[in-house]
Amino acid sequence: MKILVAGASGVIGRLLIPMLVQKGHEVVGLIRNPEHAESLKNAGASFVQADVYDRKNLFSVLAETSPEVVIHQLTSLQAMDPSANARIRVEGTRNLVDASLAAGVRRMIAQSITMTYAPGEGPATEDCPLDFEAPEPQLTSVNGVHALETTAAEMLEHVILRYGVLYGEGTWYDSNGLFAEQARLGNLPATDGVTSFVHTEDAAFAAVLALEWPTGTYNIVDSDPAAGTEWVPVYAKALNAPEPMAIPGSVRGERGALNAKALRYGWSPRFASWREGFAQTLH
Ligand SMILES: NC(=O)c1ccc[n+]([C@@H]2O[C@H](COP(=O)([O-])OP(=O)(O)OC[C@H]3O[C@@H](n4cnc5c(N)ncnc54)[C@H](OP(=O)(O)O)[C@@H]3O)[C@@H](O)[C@H]2O)c1
Repeated sequence: MKILVAGASGVIGRLLIPMLVQKGHEVVGLIRNPEHAESLKNAGASFVQADVYDRKNLFSVLAETSPEVVIHQLTSLQAMDPSANARIRVEGTRNLVDASLAAGVRRMIAQSITMTYAPGEGPATEDCPLDFEAPEPQLTSVNGVHALETTAAEMLEHVILRYGVLYGEGTWYDSNGLFAEQARLGNLPATDGVTSFVHTEDAAFAAVLALEWPTGTYNIVDSDPAAGTEWVPVYAKALNAPEPMAIPGSVRGERGALNAKALRYGWSPRFASWREGFAQTLH
């Protein structure tokens, strides 16, 4: 299959490319910075260059590449700015879907998140509504996710992957990431808020399987949604950080998510729980 991966240099994209190549697919990475060309070539993929906000160039690149499938792994989180990320979800997805439709792309697989479900009893399934009553700044994320998902759904075949909180190489939760730094400073409290994690390798592997999944939405999270009072002390210990302070309460919507649907379709994560994942990947 000829597959274009947008966001080829991101934390998921760079794991996904070699997985797709290994399965025998013809893979083209969409990059905006030419520095990433070498690693794509080394992984056995080719590359095209475009900024997703440059609509005209994006249309040319998609028409020239003419892939069967587009995998949308674009985010804009380097600066931790929710409005930049909402912009790429809204405007970036609009441009990518329009260019894909014009180029005759058959299927889109798009990265979304599980952190925008409305509050409710226990972890969320895919049928739970999004939290359109959330206060700002969360509402910006909810609206961004909604725009991304409904725009991607304009593709006849579409798979929305709602990822949990990513950990693994290059993420905020990696040993040298932002949250690890906060934990070492004693600034990461253990609250009652529930988080569903997913390791980046497992997140990337879900996108490989999604090439064959029926159109729809899938939570891609591990099988162990946990309150901060459970996972923060384990995370801190794995990092040799001080024992965290327990602070009761949670942020709206911190309820985690359930992965039964993805498991039913054959996704079998290497780390079924963050417990093993943290133990094996953090230091
Ligand atoms: N579910 C989650 O918890 C979740 C999901 C995603 C990311 N994150 C966190 O966010 C942090 C940053 O993620 P990241 O390293 O993947 O980087 P990122 O800055 O969010 O970028 C992701 C990908 O999108 C591309 N991109 C961004 N803007 C673009 C544009 N205008 N045109 C074309 N491509 C564009 C980037 O290319 P460039 O290399 O050119 O910037 C990169 O390939 C990580 O620490 C990760 O933990 C969390």
